[in-house]
Amino acid sequence: MRDEIKEVLISEEEIQEKVKELGKAITEEYDGRFPLVVGVLKGAMPFMGDLTKRIDTHLEMDFMDVSSYGAGMVSSGEVKILKDLDTSVEGRDVLILEDIIDSGLTLSYLIKLFHYRKAKSVKVVTLLDKPDGRKVDLVPDMAGFTVPDAFVVGYGLDYAERYRNLPYIGVLKPEIYES
Ligand code: PRP
Ligand code: MN
Ligand code: MG
Repeated sequence: MRDEIKEVLISEEEIQEKVKELGKAITEEYDGRFPLVVGVLKGAMPFMGDLTKRIDTHLEMDFMDVSSYGAGMVSSGEVKILKDLDTSVEGRDVLILEDIIDSGLTLSYLIKLFHYRKAKSVKVVTLLDKPDGRKVDLVPDMAGFTVPDAFVVGYGLDYAERYRNLPYIGVLKPEIYES
C-alpha cells in the first residue's frame, strides 16, 4: 500500500503521541463523570481504539454509523443513520469521537440529534480537522491536527473503503483516484 501514498502527512509516532495528550486532557475533564463515548463508524474506529486506552476514568462506549460520503469523494450533504446508538443519551455527558471533520455536516447533525435527545452535554474530539472544507460553522472541542484540503487516508480514513488500516495519515497519489 505504501507505494500508493504520495506523502506521509502524520506519522504513526506523531499520532500516538497526540493520542496520549488527548487522552490525558479528556481524563482531566471527565474524571468521575462516566461519559458516553460515541465513535462514529467506520472512520473513528482506530482512533477510538487507541484513545480510549489513554483515558483513565470509567466510560461507556457506543457507536453510531452514519454516512454522508458513500464511495465518492464529495459530500452529498445528506446524513443517513445506518446504525443508531444502543444507549440512551438522556442526562449523559456525550463525547463524540471522529477521525476527521471536513464539511462539518456529519457532526452538526449528530450534535443536534443528541441535544434533541436531552444529553447533558455534547462535546467533540477529532483527530483531524480540515477547516477549509467547512460548509457549516463547527469548531471541535479538541482536535489533534489540522490538515490541508488534500485527499488524506489512513488511520480510519478511507478512499472507497480502502486504506483505513494504515497506521499513519497519508496523501493518496492522484493516479489512484483518477483511474
Ligand atoms: C467521513 C469521516 C467523517 C465525515 C467527515 O465519514 O469519517 O465521519 O466523513 O465529513 P463531514 O465533516 O464532511 O461530514 P464517511 O461518511 O465517509 O463514513 P466512514 O467513516 O464510514 O468512512
Ligand atoms: Mn466517518
Ligand atoms: Mg468515508
